[in-house]
Amino acid sequence: MAHPLRLGVLASGSGSNLQAILDACAKQSIAAEVAAVICNVPGAPALQRAREARVPAVLLPHQEHARREDYDARLVAELRSRGVELVCLAGFMRIVTPVLLSAFPQRVLNIHPSLLPSFPGMHGVRQALRAGVRVSGCTVHFVDERTDSGPILIQAAVPVLEGDTEESLAARILAQEHRIYPRAIQLVAQGRAEVEGRRVRIPGPQGDDARTLSSPPVDEP
Ligand code: GRF
Repeated sequence: MAHPLRLGVLASGSGSNLQAILDACAKQSIAAEVAAVICNVPGAPALQRAREARVPAVLLPHQEHARREDYDARLVAELRSRGVELVCLAGFMRIVTPVLLSAFPQRVLNIHPSLLPSFPGMHGVRQALRAGVRVSGCTVHFVDERTDSGPILIQAAVPVLEGDTEESLAARILAQEHRIYPRAIQLVAQGRAEVEGRRVRIPGPQGDDARTLSSPPVDEP
């Protein structure tokens, strides 16, 4: 059997997506293991989650580096030293540069709380609410040099309900993030995510099922 894909998870905050990934690895529902968690924010809960899972937790504050590229070079050194094969951005509040992307070509994933390409940026949930869309969701995509851009791997749709606030919609979307991120990693681990230009091809009979998920129906209040 092939060895588990070695993941480097980059996080800045609560780390609930990290937790979903750690749990999926522990249950062996995905053929991956977290080789390191790297965090740029001292005291972020993501670090504690890593320690509790007995996974190396590395604090790399970005303030010590004058340029983004210098910080990314440090990240690359850390990731390489731990044998990381796939980098997963999970609430990592930093723009990454070509220094990281060229070290891991088509091997950097991100999760975003909207159906991209709608509502990229910091406030995807707020923007979706303001736009009045009836359906929003989340996206796992390969990272390219633009923000929340890059070939889309999996999306999950989430309904927007009457009376939703940014918090309630974000929570419903987050629950779906926890489903799709491990699945996206599994597709990469299985070698089933083939990037062709802007698109990701998922060969195999279940390709279409694998790339789109709907959240379970939600009863109106
Ligand atoms: C998620 O909503 C993710 O989509 C966005 O940042 C948030 C991270 O949450 N990129 P968590 O730290 O994984 O709980």
